[in-house]
Amino acid sequence: MIDWISPQTIENLYSDFNGVIRVQRFSGKFSLWVDGAQQSGPWVEKVWTKVFQLLPTIPNGHSGKRGTSASRISRNNDTERSWTSQDDKIKVLILGLASGSMIPLIQKKWPEAKITGIEIDPLMIALGKKYFHLDKYENLEIKIIDANKYLQNTTAKFDLIIFDLYKGKELPQNTKLFSKIAKLLKPNGILMVNQLKLGAVKNDWKLKKFKLQKDVKVDFNTIKIYTQIDNKLC
Ligand SMILES: C[S@@+](CC[C@H](N)C(=O)[O-])C[C@H]1O[C@@H](n2cnc3c(N)ncnc32)[C@H](O)[C@@H]1O
Repeated sequence: MIDWISPQTIENLYSDFNGVIRVQRFSGKFSLWVDGAQQSGPWVEKVWTKVFQLLPTIPNGHSGKRGTSASRISRNNDTERSWTSQDDKIKVLILGLASGSMIPLIQKKWPEAKITGIEIDPLMIALGKKYFHLDKYENLEIKIIDANKYLQNTTAKFDLIIFDLYKGKELPQNTKLFSKIAKLLKPNGILMVNQLKLGAVKNDWKLKKFKLQKDVKVDFNTIKIYTQIDNKLC
């Protein structure tokens, strides 16, 4: 019960990709930490919550499943946008699944969404199953693979792609990934990119090289940036 007063380390484990992964419990909730940055857990969920509210919702009664009449999806009362799709269900790709803190948010928004989660580190997945019920989601397909390799070889198309590839506090510098990602988006699909800027890394922010508008030579229709706590979500 001491974890209700202060955060407790439950275990420290070593992974070849992430190095030391620390499992913490605080106020009854688990979180995973690498190099002082939370990878999965309540803070990560909180960061994404706001931005998920900005995404298109499904008209009442459709529960995330789209028929032809439901092809128009309302967006925050004002804008209407169309997510055209060959089949029925919204398809979501998560690049950097870790323990899947954002999955409940996706399922709340679109209960029948088909989710593909890409994760390079098998230990993250194992911890997800142990502490976050990662194996209990019916519509989640987990692929333990380097996202670069996955993107090279897949021809699948997605309505929503979430880019959350971190190693501790660091994002990959390979912005070429984005041209491939753009090709995997369905018409009117949405790409969400998490750009962490936490305390100490704020000033020598490696992501200065990674600004979407300037450096990513991909023709996205609209780019919006939402600053949420310490993060930028594009
Ligand atoms: C911030 S965590 C992701 C959090 C997750 N989206 C959630 O909702 O809990 C970043 C994850 O990206 C993974 N990762 C980093 N580089 C990767 C790569 N090249 N391919 C696949 N996964 C990668 C890391 O192992 C780490 O688990």
